Amino acid sequence: MTIGIIGAMEIEIELLKEDLELKSKLEKASMTFYSGNLAGQEVVLVKSGIGKVNAGICTQILVDEFDIDQLIFTGVAGAIDPALEVEDIVVSTDLVQHDVDATAFGDRKPGEIPELAKISFEADENLVDLAFNAGKDILKSESNQVYKGRILSGDQFISDKVKVKKLKEQFGGYCTEMEGAAVAQAAYLNQLPFVIIRSISDKADEEADISFEKFAKEAAQHSYKIVIAILKKL
Ligand code: ADE
Repeated sequence: MTIGIIGAMEIEIELLKEDLELKSKLEKASMTFYSGNLAGQEVVLVKSGIGKVNAGICTQILVDEFDIDQLIFTGVAGAIDPALEVEDIVVSTDLVQHDVDATAFGDRKPGEIPELAKISFEADENLVDLAFNAGKDILKSESNQVYKGRILSGDQFISDKVKVKKLKEQFGGYCTEMEGAAVAQAAYLNQLPFVIIRSISDKADEEADISFEKFAKEAAQHSYKIVIAILKKL
Protein backbone atom coordinates (compact mmCIF):
# COMPACT_ATOMS: atom_id res chain seq x y z
CA MET A 1 0.00 0.00 0.00
CA THR A 2 1.27 3.48 -0.88
CA ILE A 3 0.03 6.57 0.91
CA GLY A 4 0.25 10.04 -0.59
CA ILE A 5 0.86 12.92 1.81
CA ILE A 6 0.43 16.52 0.66
CA GLY A 7 1.09 19.83 2.38
CA ALA A 8 0.74 23.17 0.58
CA MET A 9 3.71 24.89 2.23
CA GLU A 10 7.15 23.89 3.46
CA ILE A 11 6.12 24.39 7.12
CA GLU A 12 3.36 21.83 6.57
CA ILE A 13 5.68 19.05 5.37
CA GLU A 14 9.11 19.86 6.87
CA LEU A 15 8.74 17.68 10.00
CA LEU A 16 7.52 14.74 7.93
CA LYS A 17 10.44 15.26 5.53
CA GLU A 18 12.88 15.07 8.45
CA ASP A 19 11.42 11.70 9.52
CA LEU A 20 11.20 10.21 6.02
CA GLU A 21 13.64 7.44 5.04
CA LEU A 22 14.05 8.70 1.48
CA LYS A 23 14.27 6.18 -1.37
CA SER A 24 13.78 8.32 -4.49
CA LYS A 25 12.71 11.72 -5.78
CA LEU A 26 10.66 12.76 -8.81
CA GLU A 27 10.31 16.30 -10.17
CA LYS A 28 7.08 17.00 -12.01
CA ALA A 29 4.98 20.14 -12.60
CA SER A 30 7.50 22.12 -10.50
CA MET A 31 6.78 19.84 -7.52
CA THR A 32 9.19 17.40 -5.84
CA PHE A 33 7.72 14.02 -4.91
CA TYR A 34 9.69 12.24 -2.14
CA SER A 35 9.17 8.47 -1.98
CA GLY A 36 10.22 6.45 1.04
CA ASN A 37 9.32 4.91 4.35
CA LEU A 38 7.61 6.90 7.08
CA ALA A 39 6.35 5.44 10.36
CA GLY A 40 6.36 1.95 8.83
CA GLN A 41 4.48 2.85 5.62
CA GLU A 42 5.45 3.37 1.98
CA VAL A 43 4.64 7.03 1.35
CA VAL A 44 5.03 9.73 -1.27
CA LEU A 45 5.41 13.15 0.35
CA VAL A 46 5.02 16.37 -1.63
CA LYS A 47 4.60 20.12 -1.25
CA SER A 48 1.85 21.08 -3.69
CA GLY A 49 2.18 24.84 -3.41
CA ILE A 50 -0.72 27.07 -2.43
CA GLY A 51 -4.15 27.06 -4.05
CA LYS A 52 -6.68 24.78 -5.69
CA VAL A 53 -4.95 24.39 -9.07
CA ASN A 54 -1.72 23.21 -7.44
CA ALA A 55 -3.66 20.87 -5.16
CA GLY A 56 -5.60 19.31 -8.03
CA ILE A 57 -2.51 18.81 -10.21
CA CYS A 58 -0.57 17.35 -7.29
CA THR A 59 -3.31 14.85 -6.45
CA GLN A 60 -3.55 13.69 -10.07
CA ILE A 61 0.23 13.17 -10.29
CA LEU A 62 0.12 11.07 -7.10
CA VAL A 63 -2.53 8.90 -8.75
CA ASP A 64 -0.91 8.64 -12.19
CA GLU A 65 2.77 8.30 -11.25
CA PHE A 66 2.59 6.55 -7.89
CA ASP A 67 -0.74 4.72 -7.96
CA ILE A 68 -1.37 5.73 -4.34
CA ASP A 69 -4.06 3.88 -2.37
CA GLN A 70 -4.94 6.59 0.16
CA LEU A 71 -4.27 10.29 0.52
CA ILE A 72 -3.68 12.50 3.56
CA PHE A 73 -3.49 16.29 3.34
CA THR A 74 -1.91 18.08 6.29
CA GLY A 75 -1.82 21.79 7.00
CA VAL A 76 -3.22 24.91 8.63
CA ALA A 77 -6.47 26.85 8.17
CA GLY A 78 -8.43 29.89 9.31
CA ALA A 79 -11.35 29.27 11.69
CA ILE A 80 -14.85 30.24 10.57
CA ASP A 81 -16.72 28.69 13.52
CA PRO A 82 -16.58 31.02 16.53
CA ALA A 83 -15.98 28.07 18.90
CA LEU A 84 -12.59 27.33 17.38
CA GLU A 85 -9.31 28.57 18.88
CA VAL A 86 -5.86 28.81 17.37
CA GLU A 87 -4.12 25.39 17.36
CA ASP A 88 -7.41 23.45 17.51
CA ILE A 89 -7.69 20.73 14.86
CA VAL A 90 -10.35 20.07 12.24
CA VAL A 91 -10.61 16.67 10.55
CA SER A 92 -12.64 16.84 7.34
CA THR A 93 -15.94 15.02 7.01
CA ASP A 94 -16.57 16.77 3.68
CA LEU A 95 -15.25 19.71 1.69
CA VAL A 96 -16.81 22.54 -0.31
CA GLN A 97 -15.29 25.01 -2.78
CA HIS A 98 -16.74 28.26 -1.46
CA ASP A 99 -15.55 30.23 -4.50
CA VAL A 100 -17.44 28.16 -7.09
CA ASP A 101 -20.50 30.06 -8.29
CA ALA A 102 -22.65 29.07 -11.29
CA THR A 103 -25.83 30.39 -9.65
CA ALA A 104 -26.43 32.67 -12.66
CA PHE A 105 -27.96 29.58 -14.27
CA GLY A 106 -30.72 29.58 -11.65
CA ASP A 107 -30.83 25.89 -10.86
CA ARG A 108 -27.26 25.79 -9.47
CA LYS A 109 -26.53 26.21 -5.76
CA PRO A 110 -23.51 28.17 -4.44
CA GLY A 111 -20.48 25.86 -4.42
CA GLU A 112 -22.06 23.38 -6.84
CA ILE A 113 -19.74 21.91 -9.47
CA PRO A 114 -22.04 21.92 -12.53
CA GLU A 115 -20.68 18.84 -14.34
CA LEU A 116 -20.88 16.71 -11.21
CA ALA A 117 -24.00 18.30 -9.69
CA LYS A 118 -22.18 18.08 -6.35
CA ILE A 119 -21.47 20.72 -3.71
CA SER A 120 -19.41 18.72 -1.23
CA PHE A 121 -16.92 15.86 -1.48
CA GLU A 122 -16.80 13.35 1.38
CA ALA A 123 -13.65 12.14 3.06
CA ASP A 124 -13.02 8.46 3.81
CA GLU A 125 -14.73 7.45 7.07
CA ASN A 126 -11.94 5.17 8.24
CA LEU A 127 -9.24 7.83 7.71
CA VAL A 128 -11.48 10.43 9.37
CA ASP A 129 -11.94 8.24 12.45
CA LEU A 130 -8.23 7.44 12.64
CA ALA A 131 -7.35 11.15 12.40
CA PHE A 132 -10.03 12.21 14.89
CA ASN A 133 -8.98 9.62 17.48
CA ALA A 134 -5.30 10.47 16.98
CA GLY A 135 -6.17 14.15 17.42
CA LYS A 136 -8.03 13.49 20.68
CA ASP A 137 -5.07 11.50 21.97
CA ILE A 138 -2.48 14.10 20.98
CA LEU A 139 -4.44 17.02 22.43
CA LYS A 140 -5.58 15.34 25.65
CA SER A 141 -2.85 17.02 27.71
CA GLU A 142 -3.40 20.41 26.04
CA SER A 143 -6.22 22.95 26.14
CA ASN A 144 -6.95 22.54 22.42
CA GLN A 145 -9.87 20.63 20.88
CA VAL A 146 -10.27 18.38 17.85
CA TYR A 147 -13.38 18.74 15.67
CA LYS A 148 -14.80 16.57 12.91
CA GLY A 149 -16.68 18.50 10.23
CA ARG A 150 -16.91 20.38 6.98
CA ILE A 151 -13.94 22.34 5.62
CA LEU A 152 -14.27 25.11 3.03
CA SER A 153 -11.69 25.90 0.34
CA GLY A 154 -11.20 28.76 -2.09
CA ASP A 155 -8.41 30.63 -3.81
CA GLN A 156 -8.61 33.38 -1.22
CA PHE A 157 -6.79 34.04 2.06
CA ILE A 158 -9.77 35.14 4.15
CA SER A 159 -9.12 38.07 6.51
CA ASP A 160 -12.53 39.65 6.90
CA LYS A 161 -15.05 39.04 9.72
CA VAL A 162 -18.03 39.86 7.51
CA LYS A 163 -16.88 37.36 4.87
CA VAL A 164 -16.39 34.72 7.61
CA LYS A 165 -19.98 35.22 8.76
CA LYS A 166 -21.26 34.92 5.18
CA LEU A 167 -19.24 31.75 4.53
CA LYS A 168 -20.52 30.19 7.75
CA GLU A 169 -24.14 31.07 6.93
CA GLN A 170 -23.89 29.92 3.32
CA PHE A 171 -21.96 26.67 3.70
CA GLY A 172 -21.56 25.84 7.41
CA GLY A 173 -18.24 24.26 8.31
CA TYR A 174 -15.44 24.87 10.78
CA CYS A 175 -12.54 26.38 8.86
CA THR A 176 -11.38 27.72 5.53
CA GLU A 177 -8.22 27.09 3.56
CA MET A 178 -7.02 27.03 -0.05
CA GLU A 179 -6.54 23.41 -1.19
CA GLY A 180 -8.63 20.79 0.60
CA ALA A 181 -11.75 20.76 -1.59
CA ALA A 182 -9.63 20.64 -4.77
CA VAL A 183 -7.81 17.58 -3.41
CA ALA A 184 -11.23 16.19 -2.49
CA GLN A 185 -12.68 16.70 -5.98
CA ALA A 186 -9.59 15.20 -7.64
CA ALA A 187 -9.74 12.25 -5.21
CA TYR A 188 -13.46 11.79 -5.92
CA LEU A 189 -12.81 11.69 -9.68
CA ASN A 190 -10.20 8.96 -9.09
CA GLN A 191 -12.16 7.01 -6.41
CA LEU A 192 -9.31 7.66 -3.98
CA PRO A 193 -9.92 7.58 -0.20
CA PHE A 194 -8.64 10.76 1.48
CA VAL A 195 -8.72 12.89 4.59
CA ILE A 196 -7.81 16.55 5.16
CA ILE A 197 -6.35 17.51 8.55
CA ARG A 198 -6.14 21.20 9.42
CA SER A 199 -4.77 22.98 12.48
CA ILE A 200 -6.10 26.46 13.11
CA SER A 201 -3.50 29.20 12.56
CA ASP A 202 -5.89 32.20 12.64
CA LYS A 203 -9.54 33.24 12.78
CA ALA A 204 -9.75 34.48 9.16
CA ASP A 205 -10.45 37.99 10.54
CA GLU A 206 -8.64 41.30 10.09
CA GLU A 207 -5.70 40.00 12.21
CA ALA A 208 -5.45 36.75 10.25
CA ASP A 209 -2.14 37.59 8.56
CA ILE A 210 -0.44 38.42 11.87
CA SER A 211 -1.90 35.36 13.59
CA PHE A 212 -0.86 33.18 10.65
CA GLU A 213 2.75 34.42 10.81
CA LYS A 214 2.83 33.77 14.54
CA PHE A 215 1.04 30.43 14.86
CA ALA A 216 1.19 28.57 11.53
CA LYS A 217 4.43 26.74 12.34
CA GLU A 218 3.26 25.59 15.78
CA ALA A 219 -0.20 24.69 14.49
CA ALA A 220 1.37 22.60 11.71
CA GLN A 221 3.08 20.48 14.40
CA HIS A 222 -0.32 19.21 15.56
CA SER A 223 -1.21 18.05 12.05
CA TYR A 224 2.22 16.43 11.71
CA LYS A 225 1.70 14.39 14.90
CA ILE A 226 -1.69 13.20 13.67
CA VAL A 227 -0.27 12.08 10.32
CA ILE A 228 2.41 10.00 12.07
CA ALA A 229 -0.23 8.46 14.36
CA ILE A 230 -2.45 7.54 11.38
CA LEU A 231 0.44 5.94 9.50
CA LYS A 232 1.24 3.78 12.54
CA LYS A 233 -2.37 2.52 12.62
CA LEU A 234 -2.90 1.83 8.91
N1 ADE B 1 -4.92 29.15 5.67
C1 ADE B 1 -4.65 29.56 6.92
N2 ADE B 1 -5.41 30.62 7.25
C2 ADE B 1 -6.19 30.88 6.18
C3 ADE B 1 -7.17 31.88 5.90
N3 ADE B 1 -7.49 32.79 6.80
N4 ADE B 1 -7.76 31.85 4.68
C4 ADE B 1 -7.42 30.92 3.76
N5 ADE B 1 -6.48 29.99 3.96
C5 ADE B 1 -5.88 29.97 5.17
